Amino acid sequence: MYLWISETQREMTKPVSGFSRLTKNEKIEWLAENYLSNNENAVSILKQYWNEDEKLQKLHDEFIENTVSNFYLPLGLAPNFKINGRYLTLPMAIEESSVVAAASKAAKFWSERGGFKASVINNRKIGQVHFIFNGKKEKLKDLFKDIEPKLREAVKPITHNMEKRGGGILDIELIDKTSLLKNYYQLFVNFDTRDSMGANFINSCLEKFAEVLQEEAQKRSDFNNTEKGLNVIMSILSNYVPECLVRAEVSCPVSELSEDPNMSGEEFAEKFIQAVRIAEIEPYRAVTHNKGIMNGIDAVVMATGNDFRAVEAGIHAFAAKDGKYTSLTHDKIEEGLFKFWMEIPLALGTVGGLTGLHPLVKLALDILQKPSASELMEITAVAGLAQNFAALRSLITTGIQQGHMKMHLMNLLNQHNATEAEKEELTEFFVHHTITHSSVLEQLEKLRS
Ligand code: MEV
Repeated sequence: MYLWISETQREMTKPVSGFSRLTKNEKIEWLAENYLSNNENAVSILKQYWNEDEKLQKLHDEFIENTVSNFYLPLGLAPNFKINGRYLTLPMAIEESSVVAAASKAAKFWSERGGFKASVINNRKIGQVHFIFNGKKEKLKDLFKDIEPKLREAVKPITHNMEKRGGGILDIELIDKTSLLKNYYQLFVNFDTRDSMGANFINSCLEKFAEVLQEEAQKRSDFNNTEKGLNVIMSILSNYVPECLVRAEVSCPVSELSEDPNMSGEEFAEKFIQAVRIAEIEPYRAVTHNKGIMNGIDAVVMATGNDFRAVEAGIHAFAAKDGKYTSLTHDKIEEGLFKFWMEIPLALGTVGGLTGLHPLVKLALDILQKPSASELMEITAVAGLAQNFAALRSLITTGIQQGHMKMHLMNLLNQHNATEAEKEELTEFFVHHTITHSSVLEQLEKLRS
């Protein structure tokens, strides 16, 4: 295909060197000159989001590299979450309208039916040293047996504090993966990282293990006889944590399920259960079903300064653990009781990382009454379950658009710079009319003329 590139574009595609050493203002100038020359507001838009408090701004600037501004997300509150008998208000950082409202509604609904129960099933994190060994398996096994105490000894300076908190390295295993990839082995390590997510801790331990493994292999004359000996490829934690599992559940008599006078509890349960079955057997639906669960999970994960990419990757891998992508939630009716539950892997931290650094993250943890990592796992899983309940309830009754568009109405009105009076009038109008982009625009124009 022929691509036509103008002279200006050609200029723009020139690489820049030493960018990271430019000041923040210089970076913005460079950006405006090279990529935003047709946007006279570019610089002021970026600067509009700077915080007046210079110290706070510097803190944010230093979270990442080449910072030019801040990127806001709304922080909402979902109250009335009764979790293991205790009422909590959940801080949720998310841009999607209707998620916080749906969470709050589900929380209220279940608070009147016994609340959510949640429990951590296990709490193991995993890391691997991946290496290639071109020699006799028996020799590698002997080496591993000999050096295991040395491996543990070498990481003592790193594990010391974690051990004081009751965590540390649980076990180290040598795994033979040569049937999948020629000469490929792993040190497979289980960790208990207590209240921290533990990524830095795990990776530091693994890199030390790799160093010792490589050194010890080099010391063995019989290893050197092999073609390439032992070669460490990489050392890194795994974001797949199927043994860092949390369960969240709700239950109530079937007869109490429906709040709609036109639908019985039995009818509601039947439709709801079918909706979950469909997500269990149909991957196209399962992905959207689970996306709704992630609306709740990610919002709490973000607000509490945890790594939502790690959580997303781990949960979706778990949803496909039996070889087919499926629903994360499940349900059944047992002796007249509707039971709805979910078990998911969640590696979260309430110490370390951003948790002690970002003022809003600290506040979010305060709102949650300073939870331990296990408690945060429970709260987050509950947020996911509540979100799924709310989504399915809408889908099998009114449909999702009614609630969604109601919330989206404000976005549309803001997009068209509606005044407070216009907003009030049109919110009233759209209680009884269908909300679409064009209908909102039409009513707004009518009002203005
Ligand atoms: C939208 O963000 C999430 C839903 O699509 C989830 C679902 O379909 O279950 C409503």
